[in-house]
Amino acid sequence: MGSSKKLSIAVLGSGKGSNFQSIADAIEAGTLNAEVVCVISDVEDAYILERAKKLGVPAHYISAAPFKTKLAGNAEQKYIETIKEAGTEIIALAGFMRIIKPDLLEAFSGRIINIHPSLLPSFPGLAGWTQALEHGSKVAGCTVHYVDAEMDAGPIIVQEAVPVLDDDTAETLHARIQVKEHVAYPEALQLIATDAIEILGRRVVKK
Ligand code: GRF
Repeated sequence: MGSSKKLSIAVLGSGKGSNFQSIADAIEAGTLNAEVVCVISDVEDAYILERAKKLGVPAHYISAAPFKTKLAGNAEQKYIETIKEAGTEIIALAGFMRIIKPDLLEAFSGRIINIHPSLLPSFPGLAGWTQALEHGSKVAGCTVHYVDAEMDAGPIIVQEAVPVLDDDTAETLHARIQVKEHVAYPEALQLIATDAIEILGRRVVKK
């Protein structure tokens, strides 16, 4: 890894935080040259905040009320402030269940990434694994991508595929996809940490 500067990551999540955990584990293992400088959740009792506290990572609950599905208005400004104060270089959305609006996008232009539980551009939106199962796909997976103004649509950094088995339920398929997520997210962040990739139009390529 050498002595190069660590990438400062802010992780935003609304749920159990297994992707945050995989990022923290990769840092601990030395395969990701980074530091999680803060974890922020819009859900007060989200387990991701517990995980952060256990790991000694600054953990913030910031309500996004009165909005239900977007991060906007005063709440968005509070997020931006907290993220900037932490010294963040990259925002990693990890199960953050809100649409990112222009103020945050502009404050961190080209520096927000997301993990989505499908092989985009198939099945954007909620529960990508359930959509794949119901569609009858034989292959499912996950995508780490840059975030832009459209939902689940920005340039793709890493994708990992898994088979869909005949006896899969939504739960078993999601679990199989999550195993890959936990590899793909640290891998994508390490590509950014080492300045190894660039965006050419819609394509993310090795420099
Ligand atoms: C993951 O499946 C991710 O792809 C999606 O939300 C889920 C978050 O899981 N965006 P976790 O909170 O990281 O365990």
